[in-house]
Amino acid sequence: MNAAAMFAPRKVAADTVCLPSAAPIPGHGTLAVNAFVIRGTEPVLVDTGLPALSEPFMAALEDSIDLDDLRWIWISHTDADHLGSLRTILARAPRAKVVTNFLGVAKLMLQGHDVSRVHMLEPGQALVAGDRQLVPFRPPVYDAPETMGFVDTRTRVLFSADAFGAILPEAVDTIAAVPSNALRDGMAVWAAIDAPWLGNLKSAAFGATLARIERLDPSVIISGRYQELLDTPEFVSDRARAHQALQEHSKWWEYATIPGAEWRRKSGPFTPIFYRIRIEKMTGHRAVPPS
Ligand SMILES: [Fe+2]
Repeated sequence: MNAAAMFAPRKVAADTVCLPSAAPIPGHGTLAVNAFVIRGTEPVLVDTGLPALSEPFMAALEDSIDLDDLRWIWISHTDADHLGSLRTILARAPRAKVVTNFLGVAKLMLQGHDVSRVHMLEPGQALVAGDRQLVPFRPPVYDAPETMGFVDTRTRVLFSADAFGAILPEAVDTIAAVPSNALRDGMAVWAAIDAPWLGNLKSAAFGATLARIERLDPSVIISGRYQELLDTPEFVSDRARAHQALQEHSKWWEYATIPGAEWRRKSGPFTPIFYRIRIEKMTGHRAVPPS
C-alpha cells in the first residue's frame, strides 16, 4: 500500500457503522484509521478521518447518514488523523455540535478550528444523545491527554479511541483475518511508536487498567482482539462445535443472553454470535473442583 485509501462503510456492531480507511506506515505496513457513525435518535459521528482523504470520507459519510440529521461529532482527541474533515462537516451539518473536553477545546482553538459549536463535557459528565448516553472513559493507551473513549449505554459498545491499534501487513476487513503473531507484533510496534510511556509501566498496573474496562462489561470493543466464529463456510464446523458445547453447559451462556421467548418477542429471529479465546500459553497450574 503506497497511499492512504478509504474503504466501503460496514456495520461493526448494533447501530454502529464503521467508515474505514488505512494509511501506509513506510517500512512497516499499514495502520487503520476508523471513524464511526452511531445511528440513534440523535446520530453521532465519532472522529472525522484523514485530511488526505476528505473527499472520499465525505462521500462515505453522506452515504451513511443525511448530514441534516447529524447532531453530534465526538472528537476522541485532536490529532490530525481524527480531524481531517471537521471543517467540511461543520459547514454541511447545520445541527451538529462538536463534543470534546476542556483540553480538547483549547487544542482545537490552537489549530484554528471554529469552537462556537462545541459541547464541552465536564469531567465525569456523559453525553445525552437522544435514546442513549455516551459515557466517557480514559482508554488504557493513548497518545494525547485529552483522549476520550466512551461506552454507548444502549448497545454497550466501547469505543477505545487509539487503544488496541496495530500496524498490520495490509488493510483487512476484520481482525480475524490477521494471523495472531502478526497482530501481536503489530500492536507491540505501534504501542512503542505511539505511546512510548507504556514501557515505564509495571505490567500489574497496566493489568489493573484493563480490568477496569472489563468491569464496564462492554458487548463489543471496537478494534479489540478476539476471534469471532463468523457465519461463513470457513467456520461452519467450529460454530457447530460451539453450539454443541453450549447445549451441554447451558448455564455457561445464560449470563450472556436473554431467554429465547423474550428475545423473539422483542427482536424476531435469533442469530447467535460465537467467539473463542485463543490460548497461546499454559502456565501448568490447573483448577480442580473442591473436594
Ligand atoms: Fe492519536
